[in-house]
Amino acid sequence: MKRIAVFASGTGTNFEAIADAVEAGQLNAEITLVVVDKPGAPVIEKAQKRGIDVFAFNPKDYPSKPDYEREIIARCQAHGVEWIALAGYMRLLSPVMLEAYDQRIVNIHPSLLPAFKGKDAIGQAIEYGVKVMGVTIHYVDASMDGGRIIAQRAFAVQPQWNKEEIEAQVHAIEHVLYPETLKTLVEE
Ligand code: GAR
Repeated sequence: MKRIAVFASGTGTNFEAIADAVEAGQLNAEITLVVVDKPGAPVIEKAQKRGIDVFAFNPKDYPSKPDYEREIIARCQAHGVEWIALAGYMRLLSPVMLEAYDQRIVNIHPSLLPAFKGKDAIGQAIEYGVKVMGVTIHYVDASMDGGRIIAQRAFAVQPQWNKEEIEAQVHAIEHVLYPETLKTLVEE
């Protein structure tokens, strides 16, 4: 059984979807560590309630990104982590992290990449007026929301939907697609 770390910065609904899939036996893996770059983020309590170890840090407490990434790598290694799932971790990774887990780091992004990279992808897509939106899961490289695409799922935007309804649709897809995709990767 593969050991996974989930990296997050915020609410943690994707973390919960992955953890639920593990608990339900749908994903044959173990989340041994949650890494959070924002002390106080709601995802911390969600992980602790499930008895999962959390490494929460403030990047400002370190001289540079490679410094805190070396600390993350040490924590991941101590927890036997083999795969890393970024779930709303809003930070680029440096070569230190990418080399330590080469081809073993994936990310979920709330758009059909390569469209609408970066922050507030859903807002960007609404602003542009696209009629088909979706979710992408991809390998992580040094670029923002770049890296080889693993899975995508699209949906048609209904004309009467407001932003909240569109967000709800994106998140509903994410919460199914991320555990399903991780299954194909870590159980192979
Ligand atoms: C998700 O919608 C995820 O796709 C997005 O952040 C949200 C995190 O929600 N990630 C990005 O935009 C990455 N560029 P969550 O904390 O509830 O899982």
